Amino acid sequence: MSKRFTITAALPYTNGPIHIGHLAGVYVPADIYARYLRLQGHDVAFICGSDEHGVPITIKAKKEGVTPQDIVDHFHTNIKSSFKDFGISFDNYSRTSAKIHHETASEFFKTLHDNGDFIEETTAQFYDAEAQQFLADRFVVGTCPKCGNEESYGDQCEACGTSHNATDLITPKSAITGATPALKETKHWFLPLDKHEAFLKAWILEGHKADWKPNVYGQCKSWIDDGLRARAVTRDLDWGIPVPVEGGDGKVLYVWFDAPIGYISSTKEWAQREGKDWKSYWKDEDTTLVHFIGKDNIVFHCIMFPAMLKAEGSYILPKNVPANEFLNLEGQKLSTSKNWAVWLPEYLKDFPEKQDVLRYVLTATAPETKDNDFTWKDFQARNNNELVAIFGNFINRVLVLTNKYYEGVVPSPNALSAVDTETLEKVNAFPGILSTSIERYRFREASQELMNLARLGNKYLADEEPWKVIKTDPARVQTIMYVALQISAALAVVSEPFLPWSSQKLKTMLQLQPLSWTAVERGNPLINPNHKIGKAELLFAKIEDTEIEHQLEKLAQSKLANTIANAVVEPQKETASFEDFSKLDLRVGTIITAEKMPKAKKLLVLQVDTGIDVRTIVSGIAESFTAEEVIGKRVTVLVNLAPRALRGVESQGMILMTETPDGKLVFVNPDAAHETTNGLKIS
Ligand code: 2FM
Ligand code: ZN
Repeated sequence: MSKRFTITAALPYTNGPIHIGHLAGVYVPADIYARYLRLQGHDVAFICGSDEHGVPITIKAKKEGVTPQDIVDHFHTNIKSSFKDFGISFDNYSRTSAKIHHETASEFFKTLHDNGDFIEETTAQFYDAEAQQFLADRFVVGTCPKCGNEESYGDQCEACGTSHNATDLITPKSAITGATPALKETKHWFLPLDKHEAFLKAWILEGHKADWKPNVYGQCKSWIDDGLRARAVTRDLDWGIPVPVEGGDGKVLYVWFDAPIGYISSTKEWAQREGKDWKSYWKDEDTTLVHFIGKDNIVFHCIMFPAMLKAEGSYILPKNVPANEFLNLEGQKLSTSKNWAVWLPEYLKDFPEKQDVLRYVLTATAPETKDNDFTWKDFQARNNNELVAIFGNFINRVLVLTNKYYEGVVPSPNALSAVDTETLEKVNAFPGILSTSIERYRFREASQELMNLARLGNKYLADEEPWKVIKTDPARVQTIMYVALQISAALAVVSEPFLPWSSQKLKTMLQLQPLSWTAVERGNPLINPNHKIGKAELLFAKIEDTEIEHQLEKLAQSKLANTIANAVVEPQKETASFEDFSKLDLRVGTIITAEKMPKAKKLLVLQVDTGIDVRTIVSGIAESFTAEEVIGKRVTVLVNLAPRALRGVESQGMILMTETPDGKLVFVNPDAAHETTNGLKIS
């Protein structure tokens, strides 16, 4: 029976492009789910849009000397096209600066205001006298009271995920001027979450213990157990939706109040365009509402937004909120500021037409139950060993052999063997297996089941060996190829939610009519005898080591750039007069012999040819170099340093060293160019 679904994916902040973490955490799973439901014949509204308010956007605008509108215009276009490029099949992608959203959010606020659902309170908030403004949310940084992270934001700590008030921070600082802010009184509207505690307890803790993911349920429980408090839903800012009630001048709605309402306004925009009734997607109890989000959004979607919807009174509540954990990249947290990410526009430049590969790898390694790591080696292995060697290889063999033996015409089967019947029964069971995983939001498991269907096909061909049997029993090969073509057609249909491009390519190769999910389940022939298929083309291509090395090199560059940016540079020493300097006699020498000083961890005893003589120098570099590797090195030597005895050996000079930005000791080498930061080391 066809059902109605409203599927939302977190509205991304519009202050940067989209990276693999966003795709893996939210948009690919949401898209698989929406595509799957459509294939099942359900009525789906898959909704998203740009989240264009909030402090980070204004901070970025300030930094770049442009307006917040310039920033969101740029990234709205950029993000929207990334989603399109990766096949995220939103029915509507709107933006929160749209008129319809301002109207919808204002209306929502006014309804709650008029119902008496808010508390109005004057409280002391941080104020930056120099910048002459209140410091909402991310305009304040300081130490997180919970985990001690020194770079926590005023509203949320990214290290431990805790939401707090800016005034909870230890040693708060203004993100605009760096000054310690003062407290100043200001009036705001608060949503008293404590008043909704009984409802939230019953709805989540009793109602969704079994069907919500443990990570989501656990976070909600800990919030509720900690005791819910009133949360301000307005801010002293000039970027956002103006507070639409008396006394709201100069204030805007809190971004987390307006953003989730963006799901509703985006649905309205879509409904207007498509001639549908938006209310049935938000107000009809028969509609299933599901929010796809990342773990940092759980409290807003499971506690705050439901409390708003419940207070308003005419809306349905989400049936599920399948939040994912975070994706790391090569063992390190994804970070925009550190450029530690794989940006989608860049990926597409480096791997054109390989959207399905990224979709597949991100699904197969999705951070569904815990944070997970994306590595380029794994990306290559999953492409080469799974997509190419299993899926692609099976399809290629079926298409090539059908064209070779039957000029592309699907053969009529003869009597089916027990293996054939068993194989076809297994194929028909796959939609059910995939449905079970997808409906439990286990997309990772589903992607592996999809690959198991291709494995089944590969094994069937390998066991039946049509290329050998053709010589002795061509009638049997007709049946084998008929069965193999049914598996190929099943793959073309059920791979669509995961690999939309490859599914389409395969359908074109097979010249397949559109088929539903249940058609595969029913087990009628999916592709009939006498049907003419098309040419064989490769579905997936191997990814070479050089392509992976290039990606790793790019990350190494980001790491180096960060190390340089964060390097602690020792301050310049006191001025030396020209006379002081001219006393130093510096020569270029060559290390002739080197040996470790017995019982001294740091010391090497060197014989250095200085051009005037060969002399002994004791150098404290043994922790950075072995004796063998310094022999033959050209070095800079201070030759007129007063001799001094080290462990009984007289050292007659000094080798000049310096440190690279990442703290490695290197020689001041007369032939090499170094990037130096820390001045000369006397070794
Ligand atoms: O975390 C984020 O990127 C937020 N912009 C998500 C908002 S989701 C919704 F409420 F709109
Ligand atoms: Zn913290």
